[in-house]
Order: sequence, then structure tokens, then C-alpha cells
Amino acid sequence: MEHLDTRGREVGPDVEGLDIDGLAAEAEQAVAHASSTAALAQLETEYLGKRSALTRAHRTLGGLDPEARKEAGRRLHEVRAHLVAGLGTRRAELAAAERAASLRADRLDLTEVVPEDVRSAAARGHLHLVTQARAELEDVFVGMGFTVAEGPEAETDWYNFEALNIPPAHPARGMWDTMYLDLGEPETVLLRTHTSPVQIHLMEEAVRAGTLPIHAVMPGKCFRLDTPDARHLPVFNQIEGLVVDRGITFGDLAGTIQVFTEAYFGPGMESRLRPGYFPFTEPSAEFEITCTLCLGEGCRTCSHSGWIELGGCGMVDPAVFDAVGVDATEWSGFAFGFGIDRLAQMRHAVPDMRSFLENDIRFLTQF
Ligand code: FA5
Repeated sequence: MEHLDTRGREVGPDVEGLDIDGLAAEAEQAVAHASSTAALAQLETEYLGKRSALTRAHRTLGGLDPEARKEAGRRLHEVRAHLVAGLGTRRAELAAAERAASLRADRLDLTEVVPEDVRSAAARGHLHLVTQARAELEDVFVGMGFTVAEGPEAETDWYNFEALNIPPAHPARGMWDTMYLDLGEPETVLLRTHTSPVQIHLMEEAVRAGTLPIHAVMPGKCFRLDTPDARHLPVFNQIEGLVVDRGITFGDLAGTIQVFTEAYFGPGMESRLRPGYFPFTEPSAEFEITCTLCLGEGCRTCSHSGWIELGGCGMVDPAVFDAVGVDATEWSGFAFGFGIDRLAQMRHAVPDMRSFLENDIRFLTQF
């Protein structure tokens, strides 16, 4: 059976008016030009799906005479098989190209240099304000000729109290009440209430090693049964200072504190030393500055006094020298202990110290 198209060219058999060869050529072209596996999937549905011309032509085969049915069936099968093979080849090509493009897009250039503006905009963490303050304070004192030392956070009663001239039942223990650790040790062990015990460690060591004089600062954590409020936390930080040398006077102490205040707060900060009491210094003083929140007017943070106490200080008591074996007729010295959290709070005019522990990112990112 011969089939001619309108131009007289030989074509395959028509099934119910379907130009099978025309359809095969058109499908082949479309598959060759498909630009993605997704486009190819559409063509597959269009040419081989349930509603496609080929499938519909299959359904009409029953109406043909046996000879014509056989011939048309064979031709339809050939075209379908050819199309399926073409689709498979093209799908493999396109899938490989797409995989290569996606690998190119996902490639990480580990040598890439991130521009400064992008880098600074990225959400990078930084040291907590109190940690920054501690580092700055260490720098200020190192600049003044002090060395930096540290001591344990859990101390025996001897270091935290007795060697500091605070015998059992001394009333000063009341204001430095703390947490006691039951370690099954014969000696009482407690979380230190101040950094002053590090003075004792340093003096004992220096006496043992014969390395007096001492010019040192000792930063670290302290623990007290204090109720948190605008200027108190139960866990806070202090920086202790100790100078033991020949001929040290209260004038050296006052001068050191003056130089430190200007270095940390900048010039013009109003400060004062007020007579105070500490069992381990004599005479003793409290070091205060004008409240930076109300500038002396009086506010909630300074309990309406206009002043904020930053620390205690004084001349090392001869009883302390006795406890550690320093000869008080040859050596004299001064000591101080400042609250690091309190210093940072005043420098940045933070109304409530509890903000340091709340981990509110809006607060922390300001510093
Ligand atoms: C002392 O702790 C003495 N050891 C200081 C000292 C050292 C005196 C050497 C003489 C010689 P005081 O308890 O006043 O003193 O504490 C000193 C500072 O620590 C306070 O002025 C304050 O800045 C800070 N501080 C004390 N308690 C707290 C607290 N609960 N929260 C935050 N800061 C505190």
C-alpha cells in the first residue's frame, strides 16, 4: 500500500488522518531542541502520553482491515520505539549538562576573600562587656608596672578569712557570707567572697621564694549570698591590687587610684576616698565616683546618694603581714579591690547590673 503526501512524496500509512511520518519527524525535532529534562518530560507526555496522537491512533486501529491494521500497527510501534529511544538519549545528555551546571553553581571557592563591608556586616560574636572590661583593666595596670596573677575560686577558710584578720565569729563574716562546699575535707572550703585571698597566696609564695617586693593585680570571680539588684549580683568579678615594698605610704595608694581612674574613665571623673573599714587594711577607705547615670543628682542605681562605690582599699594591716610571715618593720604596702562589673556599669552608664546576665542580644551588641 503506497501513501503520498500533498507534494507527492511517499509517506507512511495514515491512521484516521494521522500523518505518522510527519508526526515522527516533528517529535524528533522537538526532542533534539528540548533545552531541559523538564521540557523533555512535557514532550514525552505530548507525544507518548494517554492523550497523544500516537495513543489515539492506536485506539483507531480496530476499524482498519486486517492488512492495513497490521501495517499501521507495525509503523506506530516503530515510531513509538524510535521516539522512546530518542527521548532516552536526549534525557541522558540533558541530565548530565544539568548536573554539571548545578555542580558549578554549588562550588565553594575556599580562597575567596570576603570584602571588609560584608565581613563587618556579618553577625559575628564578641567578648562580653565584663570580659572586655577585665582585659582593659589588666592593660591599664600592666601599663603602670603591675603584673597579673590569679588564684583559685574555691578557698579554705584560712585564705578567705583567717589570714585576712577575720577570725571565726568576726562580724565582718556576715557581710561576706557565701556558699560552702562539702568536700569531706577537714578544712572548711568555700567559694571565695572576694579576690583578697589571692593577696595571701602571693605573699606566702614571695616569702617562701624570697622574691618580695610585690606589685600585682589579681582579677577573678567572686561569690556572695547577695540578692541581685541594680548594683549587685551573687556572682561578680573583682580586680585586687597589692603592692608590698619598702616605704610605701597612703599617698602611693591615693596616687595609684587617681592615675587608674583617669586611665580607665578618662580625665575629669570626680572620685573620692571615704574612710572605711576592712579587717585586713588599716587605715581603710572606700573608693567612690560620681554616679554616671544621674551625674550626682541621685537616682535608683546609686540609691539616691549621687555616688557609686567602686571598691575598697587601704594599707596592709600588720596582722596580715604577721599571718604570712612578712616583716612589717621592713615592708609596708597597700591593697585595693574593685568590682569589675561595677566599673563597666559606671563607665557605660548601665542602669541595672542584672542586664549583664540576661543575655539579651539587643543589650550585648551595644558594646
Ligand atoms: C571587698 O571585697 C574587699 N576585699 C576589697 C578590699 C581589697 C579592701 C583590698 C581593702 C583592700 P567590698 O565587699 O566592699 O570589699 O567589695 C569591693 C567591691 O566589689 C565593691 O565596691 C563593688 O564594686 C564590688 N562588689 C561587691 N559586692 C558585689 C556584688 N554583689 N555584685 C557586684 N559587685 C560587687
